[in-house]
Amino acid sequence: MRESILDKDIERILCTEEDIAKAVSHIAVQIDNYYSNSDAKLVLVCILKGSVVFMGDLMKQISIPTEIDFLKIRTRNGVERMPDPIITLDVHRGDLEKCDILLVEDILDSGFTLSYLIEYFKKKGVHSVRTCTLLDKPICRDPDKKNFRADFIGYEVPDEFVVGYGLDYNEKYRCLPYVGVLKRSIYEKPDEKSKETK
Ligand code: XMP
Ligand code: MG
Repeated sequence: MRESILDKDIERILCTEEDIAKAVSHIAVQIDNYYSNSDAKLVLVCILKGSVVFMGDLMKQISIPTEIDFLKIRTRNGVERMPDPIITLDVHRGDLEKCDILLVEDILDSGFTLSYLIEYFKKKGVHSVRTCTLLDKPICRDPDKKNFRADFIGYEVPDEFVVGYGLDYNEKYRCLPYVGVLKRSIYEKPDEKSKETK
C-alpha cells in the first residue's frame, strides 16, 4: 500500500483499498440490475466533496448508460451538525421528470442529509430518487430517522469519526486510499482547534 505522512493520524484502518473495490463492484452490479429496465435516464448525483472518489470509481463499474451531476450541501461545521442544511451547488436540468436520480453519498450518519435531499428532489418532480452510500453508521441515526436506510450500501461502520477515500477532517485526509478511524487526539487537541479558527 502507498504510504502517506497522514497515516500516523489514523487509529486503525476500517476498509482497505481492496475492501472498497469489492464494495464498489458489488454496488455497481446492484445498480445495473435495479435500473436496467427503467425508461428514465439514470443520473448519478455526487454529493460533494466527500463522495468524489467513490463516485469516480462507481461510475466506471456501472455498465448501463449514466449521466453525472454534482450537488453540494453544507450540513456540518467540522464534526458538529448544523441545524439547517444549505445547498451551495444545485443540479440544474430541464429534464428532471425523465431522470432516475441516484444520490451518491460517502457516509450515512444521522440520515438527515439524504432524507432532506430525497424530499428536495421529489419536490422537483423527478421520475425517481434513490440513495447509495459507501459507508453507513446505522447506530448514529437520529431517533426520528431510525428506519431510514439507503437503497445501496457498501459497509456498515461503527460510531467513530472516519476519514480517507474522499472523507475529510477540516479538508485533510481525503486523498488516503483507505477508510480509517481518525485519532481522537487530532480533533480534541485544544491548541490545534484554536489555530484552525484563526
Ligand atoms: P448525516 O448525519 O446527515 O451525515 O447522515 C452525512 C454527512 O455527514 C458527514 N459525516 C462524516 N464525515 N467522517 C467524515 O468525514 C465521518 O465519520 C462522518 N460522519 C458523517 C459526511 O459529510 C456525510 O456526508
Ligand atoms: Mg458528505
